Amino acid sequence: MAQSGFTKVADVGELSPGDMKSVEVGNDQILLINHEGNIYACEDICSHAYAVLSEGDINGDEIECPLHGSAFNFITGEVLTPPAEENLRTFEVRIEGEDVMVGPAKG
Ligand code: FES
Repeated sequence: MAQSGFTKVADVGELSPGDMKSVEVGNDQILLINHEGNIYACEDICSHAYAVLSEGDINGDEIECPLHGSAFNFITGEVLTPPAEENLRTFEVRIEGEDVMVGPAKG
């Protein structure tokens, strides 16, 4: 990981609005989502059991888990519907030129 704590994970051109991409940073599997031109990053693994959220569906600013259907706000990480009870971690995103950089977990 870069000294600043930010790691390049994608090129801006790889993510058009509505696109998502799963990347690995250290031990974290992170989901990048371009939502209305802004790129957000949250955990790609559901907080309930083991499911990969990037295999689920985006609906507005929500991502729905493909396994049991919990929805999360991918901007805040907040869990919106059960059975999941824990929020997702979200990560800082920085755009530097054409580089999408992911930084430390927020909060
Ligand atoms: S694994 Fe995601 S809701 Fe159960």
